[in-house]
This record gives sequence, structure tokens and C-alpha cells, in this order.
Amino acid sequence: MEAGRLLRDRRVIVVGGGGMGNGRAIGRGVAEAGAQVALVDINPDRVTEAVDDITERGGKAHGLVGDVRVQSDVERLVADAAGRMGGIDALVTVVGGYSLFTPWTPLAEVSDDQWNLIMDLNLTYVMRFARETLKVFLDQGTGGSIVSIGSISGNVASPYGAAYGAAKAGLTNLAKSVSVEYGSQDIRMNVVSCGVIATEAQQANFPDGGGLAERVPAGRPGRPEEIAAAVVFLASPYASYISGQNLTADGSLTSRFPLPLPNIPPNVAG
Ligand SMILES: NC(=O)c1ccc[n+]([C@@H]2O[C@H](COP(=O)([O-])OP(=O)(O)OC[C@H]3O[C@@H](n4cnc5c(N)ncnc54)[C@H](O)[C@@H]3O)[C@@H](O)[C@H]2O)c1
Repeated sequence: MEAGRLLRDRRVIVVGGGGMGNGRAIGRGVAEAGAQVALVDINPDRVTEAVDDITERGGKAHGLVGDVRVQSDVERLVADAAGRMGGIDALVTVVGGYSLFTPWTPLAEVSDDQWNLIMDLNLTYVMRFARETLKVFLDQGTGGSIVSIGSISGNVASPYGAAYGAAKAGLTNLAKSVSVEYGSQDIRMNVVSCGVIATEAQQANFPDGGGLAERVPAGRPGRPEEIAAAVVFLASPYASYISGQNLTADGSLTSRFPLPLPNIPPNVAG
């Protein structure tokens, strides 16, 4: 297998592929790795831009518009993607987040509506897409891979964003369920848990940079292309024996010993 073309001739759905940050980079990365890609987004202009971007680079992309919160949209989107690409080999779910959708809120004040919105946009829709795509994988009989974008907020507590943390943590268990239930049919699911990635959403959360150079051992935020690289690997046959896993891409932000230590530079000790 040619290393730069890990997804040659594969057919991949990227849900949230119209996004300006991770979604756009993942759609582009998947196409550059040789796949035909179906980009799904609620925003039609973004879908058109993302499709044009991939096409101009010599890739093959289809744009599909719909709302991931609506089950009938999910059914239509998966069927359209399979029809246009002649099947589906991988599903990537990128839609998600917290502060773009609702204000940071202490748990004692969280409303049911807030909780349900965040669960819907980070976990429930992933189950819906997985459910529909699994049926396609099983009909094809050729296996398949699902990769979901998680967050370090699912690995450690997400203060004032408990629903976000709980939803992202749920992705890893969903991945284990898919792996255990469908592993014998060569169907895999994994999560890529992002740290702080240089996107519009991250800039909204940390307008002053958030002291990243001091806090992140890597000394900088991640780049969306670095998340795309992890997704391409996990979606590809190179990861054929990896399933049910949560791969954290955070420049070691959450690997650090949590207490200050003497005589150690701040970028190492925290
Ligand atoms: N940026 C970070 O630092 C960071 C950190 C941790 C995790 N993440 C995760 O990255 C993912 C998002 O990446 P991003 O912030 O770069 O966003 P992005 O720029 O990729 O945009 C996401 C896309 O989702 C689309 N979308 C929103 N609601 C939708 C709906 N109901 N139906 C269909 N499409 C919808 C938006 O139109 C947008 O184009 C999320 O899962 C988020 O939790 C990001």
C-alpha cells in the first residue's frame, strides 16, 4: 500500500465535512488519501465550498445537505451517499462541540433542553449514522470503519460542560460496542480525542490563546491537518487490527503530572 494513498478507491462519508476547521481538513485529508468523499453538513454554502476545494485539488467529492439531529435526514443522507459513491467503506463523524451551541453552565443549573441538545449533537447523532451505515456495511459484506471525533473533555472532566464530557466519553463506549458486536464482520470503530486544535471554535473559547505554549508540552495548539492524519490512518486498512480505541491527539496536554514540581521548567512541569 502506498503510504500517501491509504484510502485509495475507498468511499467515505464525512459528517460535518463543510466545517471550516476539523471538518474541512478531514474531508480534504480523506480525499488526498485517495478516497471518494461524501461531505454532509447543515450549511449548504459550506458544503459547496468544501466540495469545490476538493475538486480543485483533483479529488472526488459529493455534497449532501441535512440536519444530523433528524433521523429521516440521517437515513436519506446515508442512502444518498451510498448511491452516489456506489457504496460506503468508512464513516467519519465530526459534528460536535459545546460553546457554539449553548453557554458554559454549572451542572446544578443545566436544563434538560441544554443536556439533550449537547447529547444529540455529540453522541446520539453518531449512533444514528453508525446504525444506518452498519446496515450498508453488512449488505456489502466487505467490512467497514467508523471514526468519530471526540475530545479530551471526554477523557477528563469538562467543567461547566458536563453534557459535552459525558457525550464525548460515550463515543468510546459506542466504539467498543460496534467493535464487539461487528468485529467478526471486519467492521471497526475508533475515536480521535482532540486536544486544543487551532479552529474557529477554539479561538472562540480561548481568544487570548489560553496560555497554550505554557500548558501544552508540544508548545502549540494542534492543527486540523494533524487530526485529519489520525482519522485517515484509523479509517484505512493500515489500522485493520485496531478497534474500540480512543486515540488522544492533544500534544500531551492531558499526559502531564497535574501538580507543580520544583526546579522543572513550566513547559515541562505545567
Ligand atoms: N477545535 C477544537 O479545539 C476541538 C477540541 C476538541 C474537540 N473538537 C471537536 O471537533 C469537532 C468539530 O470541529 P470544529 O470545531 O473544527 O468544527 P468545524 O469547523 O469542522 O464545523 C463543524 C460543522 O458541523 C456542522 N454542523 C453543525 N450542526 C450540524 C447539524 N445539526 N447537522 C449537520 N451539520 C452540522 C457545521 O455547519 C460545521 O460546518 C467537534 O466534534 C468538536 O467536539 C474540537
